[in-house]
Amino acid sequence: MSIRFCEQNKTFYLAGKEYSYIFRVNDEGYLEHLYYGKRLSEENLSWMFEKMHCSFSPCYMEWKEISLNVIPQEFATYGRGDYRIPSVLIKAHNGSRITDFRYKTHTILQEKPAILGMPTLRGGETLVVTLEDKANALELDLYYTVYEEISAVARRSVIRNGGESAVSVLKISSFNLDINRADFDSVALYGAPTREREIERTSLSHHICEVSSTRGASSHQANPFMVLCDKNADEYNGEVYGFNLIYSGSHSIKAQATEIGFTRISGGINEQDFSWLLGAGESFETPEAVLAYSDSGFNKLSQQFHDLYREYLINPNFSYKKRPVLLNNWESTYFNFDEKKLCDLIEKAKGTGIDTFVLDDGWFGKRNDDWSSLGDWFVNRDKLPGGLTAIIEKCRECNIKFGLWFEPEMISENSDLFRAHPNWHIAAPNVKACKSRHQWMLDFANPDVVEYMKKVIGEMLRTNDISYVKWDANRTMTEFCSPYLPTERQQETAHRYMLGVYELARYLTETFPNVFFEGCAGGGGRFDPAMLYYFPQIWTSDNSDAACRAYIQYGTSMCYPLSAMSGHISICPNHQVGRVTPMQSRMDMASFCATGYELNLHALTEEDFLKISSHITFYNGIQDLILRGDLYRLLSPFEGNYFSQMVVSKDKMRAVFIIMKMFAKCNDVYPFVKLKGLDKHKYYSIEGMGTFKGDVLMNVGLRFPKNMKDFETKCFTIEAVET
Ligand code: GLA
Repeated sequence: MSIRFCEQNKTFYLAGKEYSYIFRVNDEGYLEHLYYGKRLSEENLSWMFEKMHCSFSPCYMEWKEISLNVIPQEFATYGRGDYRIPSVLIKAHNGSRITDFRYKTHTILQEKPAILGMPTLRGGETLVVTLEDKANALELDLYYTVYEEISAVARRSVIRNGGESAVSVLKISSFNLDINRADFDSVALYGAPTREREIERTSLSHHICEVSSTRGASSHQANPFMVLCDKNADEYNGEVYGFNLIYSGSHSIKAQATEIGFTRISGGINEQDFSWLLGAGESFETPEAVLAYSDSGFNKLSQQFHDLYREYLINPNFSYKKRPVLLNNWESTYFNFDEKKLCDLIEKAKGTGIDTFVLDDGWFGKRNDDWSSLGDWFVNRDKLPGGLTAIIEKCRECNIKFGLWFEPEMISENSDLFRAHPNWHIAAPNVKACKSRHQWMLDFANPDVVEYMKKVIGEMLRTNDISYVKWDANRTMTEFCSPYLPTERQQETAHRYMLGVYELARYLTETFPNVFFEGCAGGGGRFDPAMLYYFPQIWTSDNSDAACRAYIQYGTSMCYPLSAMSGHISICPNHQVGRVTPMQSRMDMASFCATGYELNLHALTEEDFLKISSHITFYNGIQDLILRGDLYRLLSPFEGNYFSQMVVSKDKMRAVFIIMKMFAKCNDVYPFVKLKGLDKHKYYSIEGMGTFKGDVLMNVGLRFPKNMKDFETKCFTIEAVET
């Protein structure tokens, strides 16, 4: 049993193998956070915050001199003396924004309930603590799901209006955590298109540190992920807390050291331009947040997220299943293709081991560039006179499966869909909506739009033999208004839009359970756990230059498993940065992903084809490691001239290793790379290098030649052997 309530101390003990999360109901009924960290025995901790000093802090009970401003809380109300970041802001019918939530009851559920219309982790034992604000007739449920073998807790909240008038929810966090120390660094993944998820570390101060997006998407710029860690934490040392939102829309995670030496961190839907009208008897559910803990550095924290997402988030039909090796035509043809060109490409792929051909943008409507046709999801017969049937037939002939690109959330002004429904895109009254990549966003807050897309895309999937869908979304939101919603609900637009996206994703993935979906958003602009729930892998970045990928994949792996990242071998000079890297390096880098090709196969030599076949054979051989293994990051490109990581099987019998030298240097040092995660007693054989004992590999390391060239890689498997 991982959740226990001690009646005597009014304390909740949540625990997994390696962590404890403890809070209590204090004498006044507030939920007081006591401890989150390394596993503890169930001691009475109710003494921890007694007699806290509070000069000049307003006291909710004058005679006791207790101020909410000094109490660590599980959920922070507004207007009663707690000046830190509030978790909830409600505007009542009488204009008041003051809330005062106190403990009412709790229950422990054996099965985790789903969230209505939003993705959530699967899981078991769940605590629901209900708080009430009597004056406003509001109830708040705080959900905690505990994972025993993984150091993670899932949290979310639900607010219910038990009164007779509507109220406006101006803000509601998925979680709040007050930790009784303030000496943290914070780490986040910021970025830009083609430069996604770079690691940025700062010292947490008394100013609010915020990771947020206001773009109606989780964004390239700020992944919904934050870490708080010891000042001296590194990959393998130090106490580290990770926070990740299972949400793809505008989000915010805020952290702040406070004057009493504590840290508050909370997160959820971004409150900017958000307001939700909650009628009498209605409730509102937040997205779920994941809190993970490591007592020994970032790498172990990443492993917690990876195991959690593979086991409890990603569709179990696909999570551990071999991923198709793709050939995508985007970079080899862009919009400039016809039936013959595609068939020739497919013919070239025959027998290489490539198992799925994905037809990217440009196959529909009158789409010959990015100025038209989004929304017209019927075949462009000028380009493809034989329809998809001819292409699928060619694939079948070559023993290759067929995949198709869609951008379901978008509409072009020059499209039949826009001419039929000029009111179906996100736009404010009296202004022409901004375009981005010449397109608008469909109003997914309007259920008619979502229903229409279910019908149209559903029809394409029903009538064609399609085994793979790439779901793209190439712009973020502006105007934030829905022509469908009434005036008083306009600030619900961005969140309702997201609920519409989830509904379409739910429908398509449930109706077509054998179709494999890949997420994408102008590269990796929506790489978040909510998307991963529907789409087992996500296009990590439009930038598939091998050197840039070292940074992008290293950063992304902080939170997301390797099997969630798509990575392709693309053309050189690279289309994004113009760099030339060895084909072997591109292959090795893409092997640590869900792999594929984006090459013009016509431009390749016989020798290149042999390389492709041997790469795919190698990749298929290490699939189980990429899908199930433990990742160890060894050398960070953010910190030095090398990128290196390895993946070890759970039973420590096999591993795969990669090192890349970023820039060649004259008279450079020989790097010794210490391996991780092996069994120190076992002997391991490394092809071309010899047999070594685990403790030697982990303490002495492997030595690499100093004359490795720019962006050169070495990549090999490691096998335990009998001695
Ligand atoms: C985005 C994607 C690319 C490709 C294009 C097509 O940029 O990231 O992979 O699909 O759209 O327009």
